[in-house]
Formats: sequence, C-alpha cells, structure tokens
Amino acid sequence: MKLLKQGAEALLFESEYLGRKAVVKVRERKKYRENSLDEKILSERMRAECNLLSRAKKAGIRTPAIWKIDTKGLAITSEFIEGETLLEELSKTKKAKKFCAEAGKIIGKLHANNIVHGDLTTSNILLHKNSLVFLDFGLGSISSKIEDFAVDLLAFKKTFAATHYKIIREWKKC
Ligand SMILES: Nc1ncnc2c1ncn2[C@@H]1O[C@H](COP(=O)(O)OP(=O)(O)O)[C@@H](O)[C@H]1O
Ligand SMILES: [Mg+2]
Repeated sequence: MKLLKQGAEALLFESEYLGRKAVVKVRERKKYRENSLDEKILSERMRAECNLLSRAKKAGIRTPAIWKIDTKGLAITSEFIEGETLLEELSKTKKAKKFCAEAGKIIGKLHANNIVHGDLTTSNILLHKNSLVFLDFGLGSISSKIEDFAVDLLAFKKTFAATHYKIIREWKKC
C-alpha cells in the first residue's frame, strides 16, 4: 500500500477495495503509553470514528463510506475522497467565505443530530467537487449538552484563527 498521509494519530494509505480506490487508516501505537491502555484508547477511538461517521452520514452529512473494519489491526478501510483539504483550499480559492459558511452550516447539522466532532480543523474537512466532506471523528462523541457543542465550536475557532490568520486579516480589511 502507498503511504498517502501521516495524520496526527494515524497513517493513511492509498489502497483498493473490491476494485475501488480506498483509503486505509491505521492508528499508530504510542510507545510512551502502557500497552493495554494504548490498545484501549486506540480501539475506543476507532469505534467512535466508525459510529460517528455512519451516524453523520445518516443525518445527511457527507462523510467517506466505511467499507471494512479491522479491530485487531486498528484499521478502517473507507472510500477514497478525491480533493484537497479545506486547509489547502482556503488559501487558493476566492470562495473561502462561502466554504466557511458552508462548514458552519454542516457543523450546525452535526450538533442538531447530537454529534460532537471533537477535532474540528480545516485538515479534517475535504473539498470534493465543491462539497465539503467531514473526516476524522475519532475524538468525537454523542451528546445533547449545549456546552459540548460550544467547546467543539470554540476549538474550531481557535485552530482556525491560528492556522488561517492571513485570511482573517483579509476579511477584517473588507
Ligand atoms: N477517505 C479519505 N479520502 C481521501 N483522503 C483522506 C481520507 N481520509 C483521510 N484522508 C486524508 O488523510 C488526512 C489524515 O486523515 P485523518 O482521518 O484526519 O487522520 P488523523 O486522525 O491522523 O488526523 C486527512 O487530512 C486527509 O487529507
Ligand atoms: Mg485529522
């Protein structure tokens, strides 16, 4: 398998599943954590990711379809989504505001369905044929608490401000 990306907590490989282009996300074991604790944390995150990806999809939010789950190998095989991350796209496109407004609407929809993403960043959103696809739900949870939605949004606001400060400066000029 060809290495596609090194994520924050996993390695992403380009692969094939039943003749279709796929992505295999393999969670990396952390040597600094005690083995059984590490295993527990990684498998919980993998389970959360699978549950929330499909819950979000059922709610009408675009997410990659999951094709195979390997609980022992801590690997999820999913549909390959063509396109760049919103992180890469925002600096290139003239439609940055439009895509951000769209991301806001989708986050509202996630929260309306009691889904807390847990790691909202522009590298966890892909732009595919002018639509946004949400990824990486491993730190997410189900909740109906407004405080949990607020924390989700605040984390997004903070990482967005730190990553896209140039765009924010441009917007402030307008
Ligand atoms: N289904 C997919 N199709 C295409 N690219 C993907 C897919 N899933 C992940 N990626 C790419 O791999 C990167 C890391 O994936 P992610 O699930 O966010 O892993 P991590 O939990 O390590 O951050 C994403 O930012 C995206 O560029
Ligand atoms: Mg990620």
